[in-house]
Amino acid sequence: MSQTSSASSSSSNLSTSHFIGKKEDIVKAGRVTKLVNGCRDVLVVHHQGQLYAMDVHCYHSGGALQYGDIEEFNGRLCIVCPWHKYKITLAEGESLYQAVDDPTAKPLRTYWRSKGVKQRVHKVTEVNGDVYVTLNDSGEAIESDVYQTEKYRRASLKA
Ligand code: FES
Repeated sequence: MSQTSSASSSSSNLSTSHFIGKKEDIVKAGRVTKLVNGCRDVLVVHHQGQLYAMDVHCYHSGGALQYGDIEEFNGRLCIVCPWHKYKITLAEGESLYQAVDDPTAKPLRTYWRSKGVKQRVHKVTEVNGDVYVTLNDSGEAIESDVYQTEKYRRASLKA
């Protein structure tokens, strides 16, 4: 058994592991999306031998993260939202941005900074070739929660 991405979990149905698919199929596809527990659209990504899971709708404006490129910024693997290019770390769901300390300096010197966790990540577990997701049901609100409501899901299906 291997565990590659983690998030806290506690009680209730949400802490149950939900079958996502066979690992070999996910490796072949690179990424899959699934409605988990009838309430959460989740993206599972296989990249460089690791599995990650996060909410599929980008916290910024609901962008389709399943179509995002995966790139490294400041040594951290991120999915780049195809809509407005926000960079979200695969393992933690942190949003990264480039900051400038002195806007008058020539040439400009930029630094990667974190806005904090904006995208909810979930725990991925692999058992005998089967991949499971355990939803992160930590009580604190995370911005990507906004795009997991019934109302948003219905609206995005019509679009
Ligand atoms: Fe993802 Fe705007 S919707 S960056």
